[in-house]
Amino acid sequence: MKNAFIRAMYYRHACKLFDIDKKIGETDMRAILEFGRLSPSSFGMEPWRFLVVRDQKLKESLRPLCWNQPQITTCSDLVLIKSIVAPLAPGSEYSRSMLSRRNLPKEKIEAYFKIYDDFSSRKLVTEGLFCWGSRQCYIAAANMMTGAAMMGIDSCPIEGFEKDKVEALLDMDPAHEELALIVAFGYRVNEAPEKIRLPLEEIVEFR
Ligand SMILES: Cc1cc2nc3c(=O)[nH]c(=O)nc-3n(C[C@H](O)[C@H](O)[C@H](O)COP(=O)(O)O)c2cc1C
Repeated sequence: MKNAFIRAMYYRHACKLFDIDKKIGETDMRAILEFGRLSPSSFGMEPWRFLVVRDQKLKESLRPLCWNQPQITTCSDLVLIKSIVAPLAPGSEYSRSMLSRRNLPKEKIEAYFKIYDDFSSRKLVTEGLFCWGSRQCYIAAANMMTGAAMMGIDSCPIEGFEKDKVEALLDMDPAHEELALIVAFGYRVNEAPEKIRLPLEEIVEFR
């Protein structure tokens, strides 16, 4: 298990060019989306929403808004990970319904609502709801990419895009949801470059 995971970590790299003729099978793509769905989120709010773009014309319209990166048009499935925004607000109907799923007794649920409202109010002031939501989208993205690598599927996380323009092209309502990150999935054309990372000693401290 440990070896399989570490192999996947080495296999995964930010793939710059995908084989345009090799498409990901439906079952494999559903598994990748499932890895995202099963990811942890703050208060279990599951703020991520996945828009899977397979249409070549739409990919071509997106590419100039994404620093003209070839991954956009050569990948098999381009997953735009959006974070919901307004539904995360304190007191929202969405937060109530998500928190109520736990089947807790009424007084416990009421207390839970209050904890959520206090916490999300602080987030609203300190970093904003989109920032809070999108940090969790990144966790989903990481699970999807490593899970894909375990199945021999390549990926590239993409932050190089003009957010406002992509959101406008997709008719997104920024009050409701915003674009957090794009992840391209497909199959590599070129071999992965050597992994470059700082040594553990430089990034870890034990106390
Ligand atoms: C949040 C984030 C955004 C990134 N955006 C891009 C991008 O727009 N284009 C790109 O080619 N790579 C992008 N990358 C890939 C990084 O450059 C890459 O992960 C890093 O250099 C380490 O290389 P490796 O992933 O191949 O090991 C991004 C990575 C992350 C985590």
